[in-house]
Amino acid sequence: MKVLITGICGFVGSTLAKSWLETDPGLTIYGLDNLIRQGSEANRTSLRKSGIRLFHGDLRMPSDFETLPPVDWVIDAAASPSVLAGVDGRTSSRQVVEHNLAGTVNILEYCKRHGAGFILLSTSRVYSITTLAGVAVEPVGEAFRLSPGQMLPPGLSAAGISENFSTGSPISLYGSTKLASEILALEYGETFGFPVWIDRCGVLAGAGQFGRPDQGIFAYWINAYLRRKPLTYLGFGGKGHQVRDCLHPRDLVSLLTKQTAPGATAPARIINVGGGESHAMSLAELSAWCKDRFGAHGVAGDPGIRRFDIPWLIMNASLAGNCWAWRPQTPLQSILEEIAQHAEKNPCWLELSGVP
Ligand SMILES: NC(=O)c1ccc[n+]([C@@H]2O[C@H](COP(=O)([O-])OP(=O)(O)OC[C@H]3O[C@@H](n4cnc5c(N)ncnc54)[C@H](O)[C@@H]3O)[C@@H](O)[C@H]2O)c1
Repeated sequence: MKVLITGICGFVGSTLAKSWLETDPGLTIYGLDNLIRQGSEANRTSLRKSGIRLFHGDLRMPSDFETLPPVDWVIDAAASPSVLAGVDGRTSSRQVVEHNLAGTVNILEYCKRHGAGFILLSTSRVYSITTLAGVAVEPVGEAFRLSPGQMLPPGLSAAGISENFSTGSPISLYGSTKLASEILALEYGETFGFPVWIDRCGVLAGAGQFGRPDQGIFAYWINAYLRRKPLTYLGFGGKGHQVRDCLHPRDLVSLLTKQTAPGATAPARIINVGGGESHAMSLAELSAWCKDRFGAHGVAGDPGIRRFDIPWLIMNASLAGNCWAWRPQTPLQSILEEIAQHAEKNPCWLELSGVP
């Protein structure tokens, strides 16, 4: 089987490519990346050494697809993947749409031309911020949990958000370009007869992630804590009670293997993938883990709420379990330890990731 991974020099793309080749050495992987993400350059050599052919190209340029060989599947792991993209002054709103949505159109045209299947790594950020922010939470110990006794919106339970949770605006420019990409991908697949799977990923985390506060929070926090950089709990009382689950991207390989198998079918085209309750923790709990691992370091508090912030987001991936018998394999503690060891070996990781 021949696979093209877009954004292959990024954290998820490179991790997937290497892990997938380890489980299936017969696979041929091609990669496309424009190296726009600071740090992604660093992955080129090891990907090449794994036997992967890399193409320097930009999803926004239709002509960059002309020299790519035909493949059986495209896995899209390229994006401006931040909820602040297009509004933080670093990228314009038009650029986010060009990378994340116009780029998808160019991939879909390529899939149509070659009859290739398409897997979109989408995001939990397609879910409505207002609906999530409106859910009552309360601290138990150092972490929020859903307040008992309230009427929860459709698609939400203590096990997390499921696929029928609201995707109503606001969902951020990032979320909306991903949601629009999902719709277009399904329509192209139906119209032109190629398979499409949408995997909505929650927070992905592991060694080698280019951590920034707005993307890669687990890697950012652990690296910054180890280096005794200033850290602040933002919003929600400034105590760090906000909760996220995380998943190691290598755990996606077992899912991709099933989704790309010839004739694979499933009752749902769109699924959530995430670590779920067993892989969830608050920022304060992450700090406590760092304190045990690295020693004490103070964290400031700033109670002011920022746009797009949400107090509690856990992905309910039970549909992925039902459709594909998929579940997370790497325990939360192993993910944190892997990031910590990588941080110890790479003292300038945050600078490499673009954090001043
Ligand atoms: N990391 C997460 O927590 C997370 C969560 C949910 C979904 N995702 C999705 O997974 C994918 C990968 O995320 P990541 O964390 O690896 O991000 P990343 O920034 O580490 O990697 C993205 C890669 O895409 C490349 N890229 C960006 N725009 C491009 C373009 N126009 N043409 C070619 N290459 C381009 C970048 O250079 C980079 O190497 C994204 O689509 C993201 O939306 C990530």
